[in-house]
Amino acid sequence: MKLQSIRGVKDILPEEIWKWQWVESVAHKIFSRYGFNEIRIPIFEDTRLFSRSIGETTDIVEKEMYTFEDRGGDSLTLRPEGTASVVRAYIEHKMYAPPSVCKMFYIGPMFRYERPQAGRLRQFYQIGVEAMGSPSPAVDVEVMTMLLEFFNELGLKDSRLQINSLGNQNCRPQYRELLKGEIKGQLDRLCKNCVNRYERNPLRVLDCKVEQCQEVARNLPKIIDHLDDESEKHFSEVQNLLTIAKAPYTINPNLVRGLDYYNMTAFEVTSENLGSQNAVCGGGRYDTLVEELSGPPTPCFGFALGLERLVSLIPFKEENTDANPDIFLVCLGEAAKVPGFQAAHELRLAGFKVERDYEMASMKSQMRKANKSNCQFTLILGENEINSGKYILKNMNNSEQHEIDAKNLVSEIGKSLT
Ligand code: HAM
Repeated sequence: MKLQSIRGVKDILPEEIWKWQWVESVAHKIFSRYGFNEIRIPIFEDTRLFSRSIGETTDIVEKEMYTFEDRGGDSLTLRPEGTASVVRAYIEHKMYAPPSVCKMFYIGPMFRYERPQAGRLRQFYQIGVEAMGSPSPAVDVEVMTMLLEFFNELGLKDSRLQINSLGNQNCRPQYRELLKGEIKGQLDRLCKNCVNRYERNPLRVLDCKVEQCQEVARNLPKIIDHLDDESEKHFSEVQNLLTIAKAPYTINPNLVRGLDYYNMTAFEVTSENLGSQNAVCGGGRYDTLVEELSGPPTPCFGFALGLERLVSLIPFKEENTDANPDIFLVCLGEAAKVPGFQAAHELRLAGFKVERDYEMASMKSQMRKANKSNCQFTLILGENEINSGKYILKNMNNSEQHEIDAKNLVSEIGKSLT
């Protein structure tokens, strides 16, 4: 039986990992400017953490969680997202007394049992950010502009920021009832999924991807027309600050997000180049979640982006030359075995990237491998070189070669390397 990876689960191979590492390093750099520190959260948690925070009627909790019973009989779930875990950690470690807002980010795999297709995986990576402890619209906008700065640094050109307000506990329940009433009169025009869920989660009808539902959604009442004063004020301040920050955005009144914990600002960044799964990032404000999970009242704002989708959008031009060896060691004959081993060891200890052929095949075959490795230099050790104590260093760019003293390998090669 040939074993293969699970459907919707991908290997990230050494030849592409440099792209991921670069994106992650840019995230570290930009996020630290805004005071965010990394947190590493567990891959699995108590199932109740996710069902309570993401919402019992969401697609994720209803049908996408990888839930299993462990040997002790506890129900555990592979994390489908990171926010719930960060909130759990925040409460568990009493992180609510920093001098200012508690700002954290995380990078890692998430798991959702979705139907795999281009851009939609069952194990996918997210970079997520959570700012915890302030209701200020300035936090919403700082986090969104940080994201745009991050995308800009990555060379992303065609991404679009879409925002909406989902209101608060004062205005959303009334809007939900209004929406339900409107939808009820048009059930025959909706997809089966929407018909089934509109009673429990009518807002999801607004962002259903099925064409006929989108037609209905276009004429349904919009939440931004039913905001109370507080939500209205918050939303207009967010827009004002985005304008001051020169961050282009559009208001999408049907943007509702697929997780239940949001209130007030919700946003997504989409890209035309992603096809039907066009959201590269999503997030928003969640002011009640910490309290709902038994922590103190803590207004929060955050987002998560899909790393596979993000990496696929970046216009990488060059090959990764960082991975190329500085030196390829060509060792010929029995006599070169130990000196070759020593030379590689010594050079690596001194910080050079050294590759070699372990089979000690013919000169021709080893030179072919050296060429393929894209090394800058080959260091050649044959019987003559061992006897004379002078090894041959060949520059692979111009084929020039010269002898170097075996006793001063590190310093002589250091002089030649650019
Ligand atoms: P989300 O919208 O469910 O939000 O996911 C965020 C991003 O993860 C999406 O925009 C997408 O790029 C990526 N993503 C989601 N599902 C998949 C999948 N099956 N395959 C590939 N990529 C996927 C959250 O997870 C919230 N926790 C975001 C948040 C943080 N809100 C506040 N703080």
